[in-house]
Amino acid sequence: MSIIRVHDKQFEPYLTANEISARIKTLAGQLDKDYAGKRPLFIAILNGSFIFAADLFKELTMEAEICFIKLASYKGTKSSGQVITAIGLDTDLFGRDVVIVEDIVDTGKTLSEFLPQLKHQQPASMKIVALLHKPEATVFPIPIDYLGFAIPNKFVVGYGLDYDGLGRNIREIYKLVE
Ligand code: IMP
Repeated sequence: MSIIRVHDKQFEPYLTANEISARIKTLAGQLDKDYAGKRPLFIAILNGSFIFAADLFKELTMEAEICFIKLASYKGTKSSGQVITAIGLDTDLFGRDVVIVEDIVDTGKTLSEFLPQLKHQQPASMKIVALLHKPEATVFPIPIDYLGFAIPNKFVVGYGLDYDGLGRNIREIYKLVE
């Protein structure tokens, strides 16, 4: 692995495909154990989590469902600021054990605005699995129940994550060279 270029920026190797898949196997093992006999519903947030969600889901041996949603933010009223809505959430969450699948939690803004909307539907439980978390970037603290890797506050691409649309198909995770 060496330095790569995406658009106008250079990125250096950070996590190998082997490191990522080993960590995902461990996470899947924990989930299998914690949700044994429960048939949880995984909700993967597009676009960034599509590869992580697929690889994680393949490793699970329990009965589980998965659906994919996209978050759209639009300007609400002045008092509410940005409003985030979910597109494609067609399953009733009432009484379900829900596991949100995110690629990366950065400031925590997205999930902090979106989670209360899901809780409104009264799931039996709601946990979060995130591949990456930048603890130093936290503005809105989010409890991440299953975390792949805590990473420095650097921009990363690859394994589903993009820089301005590109880089999602890179098998490893690269971080910005500054
Ligand atoms: P938050 O609302 O600040 O936690 O941001 C979450 C979203 O920002 C993620 O789901 C990503 O889509 C995007 N994001 C944050 N950091 C990065 C990064 O380093 N690379 C690519 N996308 C990122």
